[in-house]
Amino acid sequence: MRFLLVALCLIFALQVPAQARSAAEGVWLFDNAPSYPGVTMLEVANDAGAISGSVTTEWYGPMTFENGRVEGDTLTFDLRNINDNAHPIRRWTAQFTPSGVKLTGDIWYAHVEQNGRRGGVKDAEARAFRFAPDLPPLGTIAPDKLAATPPMGWSSWNKFGDKIDDTTVRAMADTLVATGLRDAGYLYVNIDDGWQGKRDANGVLQPNAKFPDMKALTDYVHSKGLKIGIYTSQGPRTCAGYEGSYGHIQRDAQTFADWGFDYLKHDLCSGEWFYNDADKVKRSYYEMGLALKATGRSMLYSLCQYGRFNVSEWGRSVGGHLWRTTGDITDDYKTMSDIGFERNPKFGHAGPGGWNDPDMLEVGNGGMSEDEYITHLTLWAIQAAPLIMGHDLRQTSENALRLLTNRDVIAIDQDAKGVQGRAVREDGKLEIWRKELADGSVALALFNRGEAPAPMAPTAADANLARLTEARDLWRGAAVAVEELHFVVPAHGAVMLRVKGDSI
Ligand code: GLA
Repeated sequence: MRFLLVALCLIFALQVPAQARSAAEGVWLFDNAPSYPGVTMLEVANDAGAISGSVTTEWYGPMTFENGRVEGDTLTFDLRNINDNAHPIRRWTAQFTPSGVKLTGDIWYAHVEQNGRRGGVKDAEARAFRFAPDLPPLGTIAPDKLAATPPMGWSSWNKFGDKIDDTTVRAMADTLVATGLRDAGYLYVNIDDGWQGKRDANGVLQPNAKFPDMKALTDYVHSKGLKIGIYTSQGPRTCAGYEGSYGHIQRDAQTFADWGFDYLKHDLCSGEWFYNDADKVKRSYYEMGLALKATGRSMLYSLCQYGRFNVSEWGRSVGGHLWRTTGDITDDYKTMSDIGFERNPKFGHAGPGGWNDPDMLEVGNGGMSEDEYITHLTLWAIQAAPLIMGHDLRQTSENALRLLTNRDVIAIDQDAKGVQGRAVREDGKLEIWRKELADGSVALALFNRGEAPAPMAPTAADANLARLTEARDLWRGAAVAVEELHFVVPAHGAVMLRVKGDSI
């Protein structure tokens, strides 16, 4: 009896590794993958006990794994994680059963749990990822005359997400005209993520059914005296999971030009797996910059990679006219003020032709108070940020319209000198910011980041002037005597001034 038990144990012990090896090795197919990250295949090889392989996804192609280990019927391995510096590596598990495999792991914000079936070499070939051609060596794109002042307009993303369509875009163009927003300077109507369909047999990207005729749409927007923008990513998938431009950069740039677009936002989404260091990210933006130039059409080029790798230092040289400095804005004071006070000011190099982009406006969406929206616009204007609205223009309240069309504030943003204003005096929650203007006058912004109204009094020194001679309160639309520059600034509010004086 005892002998039998020992013999059984031995047989079992010997068999497990052999069974485990054969169970894990090979090709595993996943059908109906959830859209992110869209696992389609697991490939496992065993070279004399060294386990290697990859998880193929729709977003990132084959993600090669490390430290593969088979124990019993379970394979574990490490995958490079994405967009989460705190957890650069994640441990995944594949559990094999007689009927297939269960794959479990985490990547970025998603938990993956997918059941797969065994496949063969032919399946692996059919599902193999097609890598894009090598990126071009980095070069410099000469400046053009575009974006002499920060771009202004509207984008679909903040309000509509990917639920955007031709009818809504036309309605936004109509409303820009009807409300006077166009005449206040808001010129670009930008379609963000969610317009894409599939590629045709020639690889030409088609819009989805919500955009029946892109050329007719751009013609319509142009007929209103406006310009129109579009969006893509350099990865296989855009952030909302639509078809990206990976492997099709030149073709897509040409398609956008042929359709008549005037502006492209190029989002690193899913490309950050492939282009994960400064050199590759720069070259991938340069590649699209070259492709846009090669079309011969004048298009603004907006880089969207959340400020990584000091983008403001090289955004212009890859052809960019604006570059995001932050993650996505949301319609709340905390996010807006973190971006406006803390994050965007860290980036330099803004000026005619190239602008730091702290993301689109939330004014009109209703998540902040009037004072907070005044702070939002004041911060954006004093930093010469692009003013791209992000609400449903048809529902612009009178108050929001008054803020958005304030010509004096817009003039600060659009000033020809192109200086990005900055904090010059900080006292706890109270900050005074300055922006030098082309005509020698100076914009000052008084911000109260605190929770109670606070008295604030700017001085000539704040404006870097010897003596103030004139002042205008831009939100009130009234001149103020220079002896009376005492304000009670509301909690989370701002006062914006344009002052003149004698130079030092
Ligand atoms: C990213 C960008 C956003 C928006 C979405 C679209 O999150 O930062 O501005 O374009 O993608 O999916």
